[in-house]
Amino acid sequence: MIVAGIMSGTSADGIEVALVRISEPTTSTGRTGSVLRRTSAPNSSRQFRLVGHASFSYRKTVREAVLAGMNASAASVADLARLNFLLGELYAEAVLAAQRKFRLRAELVGCHGQTLFHQGEHQPFLGRKVAVTWQTGEGSIIAARVGVPVISDFRPADMAAGGKGAPLVPFLDYMLYRDARIGRIVQNIGGIANLTAISAGAKAHEVRAFDTGPGNMVIDAVMERLYHKPFDRNGKMAGSGTVLENVMAKLLRAPFFQRKPPKTAGREEYGREFAQAFLKLCGRAPKQDIVATATALTARTIATAIRKFVLPTQKSFRELVVSGGGAKNATLLAMLANEVQPLGLSLRLSDEFGLPAAAKEAAAFALLAYETWHRRPSNVPSATGARRPAILGKISYA
Ligand SMILES: Nc1ncnc2c1ncn2[C@@H]1O[C@H](COP(=O)(O)OP(=O)(O)O)[C@@H](O)[C@H]1O
Ligand SMILES: [Mg+2]
Repeated sequence: MIVAGIMSGTSADGIEVALVRISEPTTSTGRTGSVLRRTSAPNSSRQFRLVGHASFSYRKTVREAVLAGMNASAASVADLARLNFLLGELYAEAVLAAQRKFRLRAELVGCHGQTLFHQGEHQPFLGRKVAVTWQTGEGSIIAARVGVPVISDFRPADMAAGGKGAPLVPFLDYMLYRDARIGRIVQNIGGIANLTAISAGAKAHEVRAFDTGPGNMVIDAVMERLYHKPFDRNGKMAGSGTVLENVMAKLLRAPFFQRKPPKTAGREEYGREFAQAFLKLCGRAPKQDIVATATALTARTIATAIRKFVLPTQKSFRELVVSGGGAKNATLLAMLANEVQPLGLSLRLSDEFGLPAAAKEAAAFALLAYETWHRRPSNVPSATGARRPAILGKISYA
């Protein structure tokens, strides 16, 4: 089956479409497609191959509308409703364009959607405590335009099962990167940076995953403010600056980095307000030093998280496999390699394992959709904190 996965992350940079060929595991023991086969462990003999990947940037006005939609205290309900349908159209167009480009037709679509608000922890609301999440991008529109069923809105089912609704990519990470002898830490650097730790020979319930802190989000915000550019292409600015160590020391003291996983972060933590406070701390320092410091913050907080929370649990970790848009930032990668080398980890790119860095998350939602279509759960409870495996998402028929 060919499945199209659609991802648009917290960077609000645009849409990734991955076309993936997936087929049932040949040595499957359970009754394929049956609800009785409640395993969250992807079978290793499953066929899974990326057959096409395309990126589509949001137009500037759309990006602004998406960012405005994430501004919880100011967004208008009418605009959010409009955005939901507009994104459905844009996602559908992206899938149709990717299909034309690769001369393929998907039989199923999995769409993550654009997160407008995520609060994975229970917090008081109207006398109750609720954990909530909201991904937008109307599945019914995508289904109607592309002409095939669409699975969307994956996170709520995990939260209903007591999980934080994130991260969901560990299901793919476990399938692709586990190894009998080498422990791997899979590090995605999107707007937020998150890792999946898979020790050598790990069972699915031993997989750990959490957000390490900012990925590109602070770098992007600083580039916008100082240079009116959406991001630091190839890490050029950061590469010409020097890290402001006094600022860094203050930043690293933040409670988030000390807090034990599981933990999640988003634009709520590292968005506009954080960027403003960060710029204030940097004062009148040279612009390129500020970008270098924002970049080093990502590299150091990843390394700190690994040293504090991953390496002490298990001795088999040897590789750090990097994906996400941050993998294109050469300065960030060099800083990260420097940080993790003393920890006995070598840096690899997800590309080396057959998935281009930018395609991985989109491919993951193709896989999750495929599992849901076969009525199988695809959350990893040890990663999200859910009490049980859950079948994720909602189906829109064409
Ligand atoms: N050539 C590049 N050089 C430096 N950074 C890049 C490059 N391409 C993408 N990025 C960074 O990656 C980000 C997008 O990463 P992505 O994985 O799509 O994140 P998200 O999942 O949050 O949308 C951009 O906002 C930018 O910061
Ligand atoms: Mg993106």
